[in-house]
Amino acid sequence: MPDPQLVLAARVQDALSAAFGPSYADADPVIRPSQFADLQANVALPLAKRLQGERGEKQNPREIANEIVAKLDVADVASGVEVSGPGFINFTLSDEWIAGQAQRVLEDERLTVPKAAEPQTVVVDYSAPNVAKEMHVGHLRTTIVGDSIVRMLEFLGHRAVRQNHLGDWGTQFGMLIEHLLDVGEEAAAAELSAGHINRFYQAARAKFDSDPEFAERSRRRVVTLQSGDPETLRLWQQFIDDTVIYINKVYARLGVTLTDADLAGESIYNPMLDTVSEELESSGVAQLSDGALCVFPPGFTGRDDAPIPLIIRKSDGGYGYATTDMAAIRHRVRDLGADRIIYVVGADQSLHFQMVFAAARMAGWLPDGVRAEHAQIGMVLGTDGKRFRTRSGESVRLIDLLDEAVERSAAEYDKVNPDDSLGPEARAQIADAVGIGAVKYADLSVARDSEYIFDFDRMISFKGNTGPYLQYAIARIRSIFRRAGTDPESATGPIVIGEEAERALALQLLGFGTAVEQAYDAAEPHKLASYIYAVADAYTTFHENCPVLKAPDEATKASRLALCAATLRTLTTGLGLLGVPTPERM
Ligand code: ARG
Repeated sequence: MPDPQLVLAARVQDALSAAFGPSYADADPVIRPSQFADLQANVALPLAKRLQGERGEKQNPREIANEIVAKLDVADVASGVEVSGPGFINFTLSDEWIAGQAQRVLEDERLTVPKAAEPQTVVVDYSAPNVAKEMHVGHLRTTIVGDSIVRMLEFLGHRAVRQNHLGDWGTQFGMLIEHLLDVGEEAAAAELSAGHINRFYQAARAKFDSDPEFAERSRRRVVTLQSGDPETLRLWQQFIDDTVIYINKVYARLGVTLTDADLAGESIYNPMLDTVSEELESSGVAQLSDGALCVFPPGFTGRDDAPIPLIIRKSDGGYGYATTDMAAIRHRVRDLGADRIIYVVGADQSLHFQMVFAAARMAGWLPDGVRAEHAQIGMVLGTDGKRFRTRSGESVRLIDLLDEAVERSAAEYDKVNPDDSLGPEARAQIADAVGIGAVKYADLSVARDSEYIFDFDRMISFKGNTGPYLQYAIARIRSIFRRAGTDPESATGPIVIGEEAERALALQLLGFGTAVEQAYDAAEPHKLASYIYAVADAYTTFHENCPVLKAPDEATKASRLALCAATLRTLTTGLGLLGVPTPERM
């Protein structure tokens, strides 16, 4: 990849090996951005200590830096190499090298990002709404963060196995099925598929609390459901199907890649739970404690240093959330062939996952070579700084929220285009892309484990690190090509660097692959978002300082069009990996 940090790191390592011997070849060159040049290598400072031991006398890091520089072969990459301060090696990249690398990015369909040499199977557990409850704004985050992780890993050549761990099982279904029968299957279907699940649940709950006959029916229904009675299972499935219709509407609105084939709800593990608990018991991983079967992974203690149990089987014989997750992890490694499992779930479940991973390692179901991690999701707050709710204190229906985003962006559009010159169809498309894109980008651009305030005004703004700002940068580039009467694919350069803004933009374009790899590796899409924002910012400065269609000469115009084309593809590919749509015009 053309990332100058990687290129220089390799060159410095070669120099280390030449200067101090092959055992130094893998020392970290400590390449960092530099205040006085483009990049600097700080390796001489830690190295002086290491060499001191070997050479038996105190070493001066500046001299070590000079020894490295003497062996450095970077003439093609850097126009300036200088030792400064206590022993930093400063590099100024050469304009020709930057231009040549940007040209490579332009010419490569994958923007020079290689596909993984050893593709992995990565299970991503994400979205996972609970069918008996309304999909809330927290599921917005688990859904789109997970979807972005999946998009990145597929782009990098790995195989994604999406698992939507739907909360589709539990004792509340007794009451919900009875209520479904009371209102009639058709009426229930209409209500549930429209997303009025809380209303449905509350009506059932009210009857359960006030009507002993209903409560009794509901309890009996739990028993018939658990015993696998076919008619009860049919009604339960009906309830799930009705709510999945709503969930799918939300997914379609959000433009996420989840399909029905990815549904792997809690209920699918029911047939495995007996085996799971028996295996854990017979292997001695789980023990009986007050009648309940528990795993006590070492290191998890509560008050008074008492070990915390992971409950596998309750004393009444029932299984719970933890048992299901133990079955799931076993299934994912054994049957789905996971090399890595990423759980995109609320941060409040951190202890649960730590204990499940520890217990699965004890059971041998999660071998050392398989990485399991909880990609924690922080809470979404309202502008009042508290958990995001409607003014009347209810949880916000996701679909209403998305509708509002689109309405607001349509209103913004009307302000800028009062004569609606593009026509109503384009208006609707743009409003949709901008509204949904704004909500998604606002979420994906903050660290997934931190809280953020859901603020329409901020996310729909064209200023700052927002979806519309990035979409607008893209629309501006597209409009240049429309006015030029050519398409971006025919802008082939060659890229040459004259102005500072051209240099800064070209240099940014070299970092795409590293940004994607780091974002995927850490399962942190915001790292990619920050990179995309930096590119858009560099483009904005370029746009303000370097006329493209009115460039001073044809060669400069060709180069600038090529820079525009490479920027366009970097921004659209990057936003594509975040799942943020990019309208042609705005
Ligand atoms: N349904 C759960 C919730 O809404 C999330 C499930 C996450 N995945 C898992 N394997 N436990 O909180």
